Amino acid sequence: MPSVTIAIANQKGGVGKTTTAINLAAAFALKKKRTLLIDLDPQANTTLTFFNPDEVTHSAYDVLADHQISLGEVVRPTKVANLCLVPSKIALAKLEAHLVGQFDAPFRLKDALAQARKDFDLIIIDTPPALGIITVNALVASNYLLVPVQASYYALEGTDDLLETLERVRARPNPELQLLGVIITLFDRRTNLARDIYKQVHEVFGKKVFKTVIGKNVRLEESPAYKETIFTFAPDSTGAAEYAQLAKEVMQRVS
Ligand SMILES: Nc1ncnc2c1ncn2[C@@H]1O[C@H](COP(=O)(O)OP(=O)(O)O)[C@@H](O)[C@H]1O
Ligand SMILES: [Mg+2]
Repeated sequence: MPSVTIAIANQKGGVGKTTTAINLAAAFALKKKRTLLIDLDPQANTTLTFFNPDEVTHSAYDVLADHQISLGEVVRPTKVANLCLVPSKIALAKLEAHLVGQFDAPFRLKDALAQARKDFDLIIIDTPPALGIITVNALVASNYLLVPVQASYYALEGTDDLLETLERVRARPNPELQLLGVIITLFDRRTNLARDIYKQVHEVFGKKVFKTVIGKNVRLEESPAYKETIFTFAPDSTGAAEYAQLAKEVMQRVS
């Protein structure tokens, strides 16, 4: 399998980016893929699913802000076999200001990853709810973009801007970048609204929409509080089954 780096992005908050990043990465790790999860959200929700704040000394910020620390120095093994994490800290919120005027600003993560790539089969990047320099770094360093879309009223609001950013990254810094797919999340089968949104997302994205749909599942919501992925917290839940299914579809699309 060629080196696969997937950025999970949507500038809307609360659409399931972090939940998807964590559980997709865990699904690959369970399949014995050497997986690296990179947390680029200053909110650090992904990081806090694996570590306590006081356990995080260095973070992605140290790697991206200056070249003092290599990515390899901040990679941490997690308690999930085959799964490592590059943690985030609130300091990342300062990155934007720090990188203003730096000619290599969009390339910081890509450059930092050059050494580490050989150690991993798959790299998954969780991004903040914004289309600023952090998300651009993720897109420049990736070969695929995966977009979670929440099955709610304004589901598709903002996807135009996201797709425009994809095109701009593809035009210059990273022609390799492809839209891997759109995953419908937080889907509530009981409502007509969710079914309408489902249809709408298919009309706009066609074959790019994954067949797997991630339903609303309280287990997925609870697991981070117990510092677990869905596969250890509730292995028999529909959430676990759906994320395992999504991982399968992702594997088919990247190989
Ligand atoms: N399929 C789901 N079912 C129930 N709750 C979910 C589901 N996916 C995400 N959540 C919850 O919704 C909130 C937002 O999800 P999150 O993954 O953090 O989104 P984002 O990273 O896009 O902001 C979190 O509290 C999360 O636990
Ligand atoms: Mg998040």
